[in-house]
Amino acid sequence: MPETPTPTPTPTPTPTQRSLAIDNIGSLITNDPTLGRGSLGIIDNASVVIVDGVIEYVGPAGALADDRIDADGACVLPGFVDSHTHLVFAGDRAEEFTARMAGQPYDGGGIRVTTDATRNMSTGALDGLVRQRLAEAHRAGTTTIEIKSGYGLNVVDETRSVEIARRYTTESTFLGAHLLPAEFEGRADDYIHLVCNEMLDAAQPHAKWVDAFCETGAFDADQSRAVLEAGRAAGLGLRLHGNQLGHGPGVQLAVDCGCASVDHCTYLSNSDIEALAGSDTVATFLPAADFSTRQPYGDARRVIDAGATVALASNCNPGSSYTTSISFCIAIAVREMGMTIDEAVQAVTLGGAAALRRTDVGRLTPGSAGHATILDAPTHHHLAYRPGVPLIRQTIGPLGSLDPIRPQRGSTR
Ligand code: NIG
Repeated sequence: MPETPTPTPTPTPTPTQRSLAIDNIGSLITNDPTLGRGSLGIIDNASVVIVDGVIEYVGPAGALADDRIDADGACVLPGFVDSHTHLVFAGDRAEEFTARMAGQPYDGGGIRVTTDATRNMSTGALDGLVRQRLAEAHRAGTTTIEIKSGYGLNVVDETRSVEIARRYTTESTFLGAHLLPAEFEGRADDYIHLVCNEMLDAAQPHAKWVDAFCETGAFDADQSRAVLEAGRAAGLGLRLHGNQLGHGPGVQLAVDCGCASVDHCTYLSNSDIEALAGSDTVATFLPAADFSTRQPYGDARRVIDAGATVALASNCNPGSSYTTSISFCIAIAVREMGMTIDEAVQAVTLGGAAALRRTDVGRLTPGSAGHATILDAPTHHHLAYRPGVPLIRQTIGPLGSLDPIRPQRGSTR
């Protein structure tokens, strides 16, 4: 692998397209080992040229373009790909968190508190909260984001939740099977029937993915499988919450069903790890949730060593993980989960992209999306080395404008 990549000619955009050069980059993480050093494909003294949202040039500094950002020797890396969030919610659960820090266990039951608050909020207000959270995530370096429903838990509120999510991301997920709503107490199979039929039919036009919470206290393996199979039949991609609060069938089920990702993976048996390693299901760790619920951290080291693909995501939600900070997740993964800094950075970029089955994001290579994060630091090591310090100087990518993918509809409530 060459230390210094072969210079590529400066691009010549057509007159209608403005080009942007990020120049004078001290350390550029491309995530392509053929372009630079190590598994992160690092190029020193680099520039990147973006034309019409797509990278046209990656190579030595000095590339010319219509517009120029001077990185002033800083590190530039792909925008973070946050593959697991629950941004569509109302209310907060600071009291529940405080009680937990005083010793109360987390069991997911607070989801019903958020469901009440979410059902009672107008669509316009809910939409406004999502926009605020997206702006916060963007300031923290995220440029691609998955957003789940899951706090509506009836046909109307699940549908409007996933419809709001879809306004801001193509990675919208229907999570009607998040928890049994109070009005279905004792009738879990009836609720699963509703999720797999009327609710799925209504949510499907706005969703790319279907998800379920497979856990003691939420839904069992048969119920979760029914939801995944119904989602598949409706044309959705599959993902699953599994093995968050204890050992269970989630990971094996996800692999069996060919889920793109199984998320949490806090408790893994040897056979879970073997199953992941022999599959293309990504193991997504959510360390900020383990932090905020006082669970042990997942054993990412063993999963990587076994050969499985690993992602790290924020899991931003009001109960188990109220943060949009991917930098925080990197710091925990390096300090507590046996990941190297390079592995952690790769897990929040390429790993997140793999969890969403995307090849156009999570890397800075010619032809990929022009989504980049400029750090207030000379190298990516500072993301773990300087925990808690806001090191994101500038995020370049689509969440910044918060332009809806489709025109926003008016409030329906
Ligand atoms: O991923 N595990 C289930 N869902 C969320 C938590 C939701 C909540 O407590 O509000 C999670 O951790």
